[in-house]
Amino acid sequence: MTILRIADGQVLTPELTIERADVLVDREEGEILAVETKPEDSENPMDEMDTADEETLDASGGLVIPGLVNAHTHASMTLLRGYADDKPLAAWLEEDIWPVEANLTPADIRAGADLAAVEMIRSGTTAFSDMYFHVPEVAATVERSGLRARLGHGVVTVGRDEETAREDLKTSLDVASEYDGAANGRIRTAFMPHSLTTVGEGYLEEYVGRARDLGVPVHYHANETAAETSPIVEEHGTRPLVYAAERGLLEAGDYVAHAVHVDEREIDLLAESGASVIHCPASNAKLASGIAPVQRMLDAGVTVGLGTDGPASNNDLDTFDELRDAAMVGKLDAGDASAVPAEAAIGIATAGGADALGFDSGRIEAGRNADLAVLDLSAPHLTPVHDLVSHLAYAARGSDVRHTICDGQVLMRDRDLVTLDERAVCEAAADHATDLVRRTNEAQSS
Ligand code: NI
Repeated sequence: MTILRIADGQVLTPELTIERADVLVDREEGEILAVETKPEDSENPMDEMDTADEETLDASGGLVIPGLVNAHTHASMTLLRGYADDKPLAAWLEEDIWPVEANLTPADIRAGADLAAVEMIRSGTTAFSDMYFHVPEVAATVERSGLRARLGHGVVTVGRDEETAREDLKTSLDVASEYDGAANGRIRTAFMPHSLTTVGEGYLEEYVGRARDLGVPVHYHANETAAETSPIVEEHGTRPLVYAAERGLLEAGDYVAHAVHVDEREIDLLAESGASVIHCPASNAKLASGIAPVQRMLDAGVTVGLGTDGPASNNDLDTFDELRDAAMVGKLDAGDASAVPAEAAIGIATAGGADALGFDSGRIEAGRNADLAVLDLSAPHLTPVHDLVSHLAYAARGSDVRHTICDGQVLMRDRDLVTLDERAVCEAAADHATDLVRRTNEAQSS
């Protein structure tokens, strides 16, 4: 057995307390072997000699946390970061995003996903969920980067002929089937209809059954904007998540992005079904979609995870920003400064997201996946230390992350990326983005 000893740090426990401990990782199994608590007065624990099969990662002066989970994104939209801003969702998609997405090539997707992986590793995110196109390219990035992910092909059928629509639905099922368990089990998959309004009712009913036969969960956008919920209410006389549940789209293991405009019945349905909500506070604020009632959902027993959404509506993939935003807007929504406290925000960024995606991560305890990040606590904005849980929720930034570990492998050591060439990835992504916009402009003017 090869052991990675994450030594001499302070460790965030599953109960969200802090203790001095070494975290021992079984590198072959990718699991946490033990958390060795140290007495408060112990000195120079680094004196212990490394044994031949033990490698040490220095966490002194640092805080060891579960790797953050970005449970809803469209990673390759890094290429569209800053391409179009300051518009509501429908106009932003129709006027800017969909035209340029029509010109995306598999190589573009790979370049964008690589950039996303660099950004996530740098900011201590170890697992993500991605809904986009050309899933094999995203899977290749996950494989190489060492991250963990639940991937799927996003389906849109509105405005398409039946043959094209069915081809898109089939692609989503095919990639879900082919890639589930890939990258040594780090890749899981889902069937991903884009939303309840962009995929036709008949298609949803027909294809969700096929996803169940494959044993993969379903992930989609739901109740994101008021303008998106009202057509379902008008046409079907029922709330969107009731509509979803009646069509078999709300079962344990399923997860919906946003759930901004939900009523009490829908919150109860989420809790009863075991389906999870992925809260995307920055994207919901930027597109003026609204604020999801996170405290009410937590009170009702709904599993809530956290997502950046695509980097074109955020505009970054730093889950620490999202964690803080979740606490801030949760208080605004509730009109109560005690709503979504630090512990709740940290919980949804770690264990909540891991639970939503079905990963045995998000808590530092023996037997769990060794998906971890180590924060350097020396920055001025983390000084002084009264309460590290407070710092984690309200003051820490992705740039404070010193080491990132996923599945027992070190992906970033002392701020140097191990699995990806950061400079080459950034240059390639910038080149692909420039070329993509040029091709889009040519297509629009011809
Ligand atoms: Ni989204």
